[in-house]
Amino acid sequence: MKNIKVFCPGSVANISCGFDILGLCLDNIGDEIIVTEKKEPGIELELTGNYKIPNDINKNAASISAIALLNSYKELNYGFKISIEKKIKPGSGIGSSAASSAGSVYAINELLNRPFSKKELINFALEGEFACTKSYHADNIAAVLLGGITLVRSNKELDIIKLNTPLELFVTIIHPQIEIKTSDSRSIVNRKFEISKVIEQSSNLGAFVSALYNEDYDLISRCIHDIIAEPHRSELIPEFRNLKEIAISNGSIGFGISGSGPSMFSLARGPEKAYFIKKELEKHLQIKKINFKSYVSSVNDEGVKII
Ligand code: HSE
Repeated sequence: MKNIKVFCPGSVANISCGFDILGLCLDNIGDEIIVTEKKEPGIELELTGNYKIPNDINKNAASISAIALLNSYKELNYGFKISIEKKIKPGSGIGSSAASSAGSVYAINELLNRPFSKKELINFALEGEFACTKSYHADNIAAVLLGGITLVRSNKELDIIKLNTPLELFVTIIHPQIEIKTSDSRSIVNRKFEISKVIEQSSNLGAFVSALYNEDYDLISRCIHDIIAEPHRSELIPEFRNLKEIAISNGSIGFGISGSGPSMFSLARGPEKAYFIKKELEKHLQIKKINFKSYVSSVNDEGVKII
């Protein structure tokens, strides 16, 4: 019976100017999943790691995604055991459910000799994401499966575009150790916007895409504004405004909420700057006695991969 082990990276959704549209794949934060073929048909789960996630195959993002894949494939007379070592805390804002969902379908697809393209796998992984977040948004999953920075033109048609990543772009992640459920965080975002706000968000998103291709760090910095979610979601995150101010005054080219929070991201040009910003943010959190985890990551162009 064959088996395969994959690294399932975390991701930053939205990147401020692309709510439910943009995603960025991280490279040193992620879960590990081993998928092993088993004699009996169907899916079985085994959970290890630091965090509690559902062990019912109909409630776990990885198994729900795997079942969706198998339902679209020819009937098999054997099945798969999915062993998840959960390293990304659920409710972190760095794509915990997307990592599990994308990782399981990627691994099974490899064991089946790739009947589906990576873009097709997004369909299946989206079922696991929906089970956890109560919404079909592919921004995290697209980044994890395709790697790099991705843009979802349509969640309905799953029209996904992989964008250019500027070579020196580095990300600092600050993860206060509180949990925010994506479904709760989505429920506080306004449904209606004035036309002037729509124009502002659209122009920032358009310019951001251009800045990625031209590797124009100054323009990236002018585009990282979130008119849609940050005004509401930042209220749920301790010290958000102060942390943003500290990051920007220390050379961050953009600071915002990672996905639905509570994690925050800062973009920087080069690793030295990213580590310096991390240190400055850590100092403030320590003074405020807030528990956190922090990381620096480059943009992971490969996405989910075999290890
Ligand atoms: N785009 C999503 C949101 C990402 O901000 O709600 C979280 O899964």
